[in-house]
Amino acid sequence: MSDSVIRLQSAGADIIIKTRPFAEIFYWGPHLAHFSPQAVLSLDRPIANSRLDVDIPLTLMAEAGHGLFGSPGIEGHRQGLDGSPLFKTTDVSHRAQTLTITSEDAVAGLRLCSEIALDESGVLTVRHGLTNLRQQPWQVERLAVTLPVAGRARDVMAFHGRWTREFQPHRLRLDHDSYVLESRRGRSSHEHFPALIVGSEAFSEMRGDVWGVHLGWSGNHRLRAEVKTDGRRYLQAEALYLPGEVALGEGETLWTPHLYASYSAAGLNGMSQQFHRYLRQQIIRFPDKKPRPVHLNTWEGIYFNHSPAYIMRMAEEAASLGVERFIIDDGWFKGRNDDRAGLGDWYLDEAKYPQGLTPVIDRVKALGMEFGIWVEPEMINPDSDLYRAHPDWVLAMPGYPQHAARNQLVLDLSNPDVFSYLVERMSWLLGEHAIDYVKWDMNRELVQPGHQGRAAADAQTRCYYRLLETLRQRFPHIEFESCASGGGRIDYEVLKRCHRFWPSDNNDALERCTIQRGMSYFFPPEVMGAHIGPQQCHVTFRQHDIAFRGLTALFGHLGLELDPLNVSEAEREGYRRYAALYKQWRGLIHSGTQWRLDMPDATTQAQGIVSRDSGQALFMVSQLAMPDYTLMMPLRLAGLAPDAQYRLSLVDHPNLGLTGAGGHTMRKFPAWMTSEVTASGEWLMQAGIALPILDPESAILIGVERI
Ligand code: DGJ
Repeated sequence: MSDSVIRLQSAGADIIIKTRPFAEIFYWGPHLAHFSPQAVLSLDRPIANSRLDVDIPLTLMAEAGHGLFGSPGIEGHRQGLDGSPLFKTTDVSHRAQTLTITSEDAVAGLRLCSEIALDESGVLTVRHGLTNLRQQPWQVERLAVTLPVAGRARDVMAFHGRWTREFQPHRLRLDHDSYVLESRRGRSSHEHFPALIVGSEAFSEMRGDVWGVHLGWSGNHRLRAEVKTDGRRYLQAEALYLPGEVALGEGETLWTPHLYASYSAAGLNGMSQQFHRYLRQQIIRFPDKKPRPVHLNTWEGIYFNHSPAYIMRMAEEAASLGVERFIIDDGWFKGRNDDRAGLGDWYLDEAKYPQGLTPVIDRVKALGMEFGIWVEPEMINPDSDLYRAHPDWVLAMPGYPQHAARNQLVLDLSNPDVFSYLVERMSWLLGEHAIDYVKWDMNRELVQPGHQGRAAADAQTRCYYRLLETLRQRFPHIEFESCASGGGRIDYEVLKRCHRFWPSDNNDALERCTIQRGMSYFFPPEVMGAHIGPQQCHVTFRQHDIAFRGLTALFGHLGLELDPLNVSEAEREGYRRYAALYKQWRGLIHSGTQWRLDMPDATTQAQGIVSRDSGQALFMVSQLAMPDYTLMMPLRLAGLAPDAQYRLSLVDHPNLGLTGAGGHTMRKFPAWMTSEVTASGEWLMQAGIALPILDPESAILIGVERI
């Protein structure tokens, strides 16, 4: 058996796969310094009484035909026939850390190609391609990637959410059956971010074995953590197909989306750091590698109320505050005075912009900023010229009513006329104007998505990718943001085609602490839009001072989401301060290693970013609510070089700078805040630093510098 056993290895994690007669993962865990293939015999299983008389493998394709009795990885049929495939390996190709296994089921007439690669970051990518070898179509009901995890992976962590409350983590213990999350909303969704994490009991940010997976797919999906009755555990992820949606003709291949997986022996931080490293090396591409510019997005400043003269004044003020990219949001195109009309009519609203967009763009550029604009190409308002001319262009099932959401319907991108119209209109916009940036929105879910009577959610997602790709190819210098009412379309597959995400329409700094932390499990700060919103949040109506808002936006891609003309000078001074602080530190924030720290008090959140050479770091402590204890416990830092000496500094503080009195909860600051304190990295990570007592909804920023 040993010659069919293949190991893929990285510095932190290994995966060991038996390839013949069928593929089976034997091990996915810490890197092994002493491994020989015959060792896998130690895992040879007994055969239990009262079950099948043969061993029941949990194969790479998790076919039911082996006696799996769990959720299979493949389901489908050929008009009721060929519906129980079992694959046998026909070819194995192994190069460096990539393994490709081809297998076939000669009875069912199907071929499977499984690609497994372990990146040097430690991230494993897996996908399957299923090919129909017969003339009659094979109807695909399900095609999933299945990854077994160790028996100690008993705790599950997943994310729930909703509009304005994305990336909310929750935990559960899974001892039997399954935990399943599904999005049937036609996008990765606010509600069911396509990821699952399992780990050893009570795994935390710093401790425990953790296996995390993310499905790179922007459409319907299903993820599952399952415990078989024999105790074996696995993770499974797939694009979710609606009835009749995918049929493979002869020779046609259906690829699953990529499943990205990261194992860490050092808690959630290790998992996230591997994902971040992978994205930075393999997926994220910024034109000219330029630093992430400070944004001003007009949405919460003026909504649909566009006047070029006023917008130019906003731009002037923005430039004086340190803004580097100015983005005009919704409201610039024909008939778009509110959210009831205009989508689809991608022509300039000449009533609002009688001289065209160019004077505004020129002014923005003359002020030294880039210019960006908002679009929502996939949508149509019934109150639009486009709908009046082409009511049949809507994504719908004939014979059923289509319900509007935010007063809009969805365009059927599988219709070639729709697709060409959008390419033509977007090319007009992006080709005839000096646009550097596009915020691409998608503000409703798909309900009964149909093309010529057939379900078309999967096709819609694929066409969306194709549309974006077509425009990216035509306009390679333009950066794109993926937004879907905030964080409704955030995943690795769309990240291959965009440069930034809008995580939430909620700019309340307190809410953002949880949303952004949730997003950080899978995404690094440089792709996470984080804007300073108005003093009184438009979603929650909470008020926060500029220090809390500014600091909360710092560990992301910072921007402003407000009208800078309509605020006090003190507010403006704050924007200037945090734009400057961001510019000073963005090099570190967008390249360093991110750490979320375990805190003894759930009212406090702490995170840090440490430079790759461990020479410099920033740590932020955010006080979410009234502290549980009178004194905060010392903050144990992370990621420093144990043997190096570091100097601590207070980079930003809500009270100290403003009143000099340290608020009303303390008589004396911790010593390091007022006098020089140096200590070794080891001391700072093991013993830590005393924290000031913070008011609820405030934060401090601590600098750490190697001496
Ligand atoms: C929803 C987005 O999330 C907002 O930021 C804004 O662009 C509006 N759509 C505009 O309609």
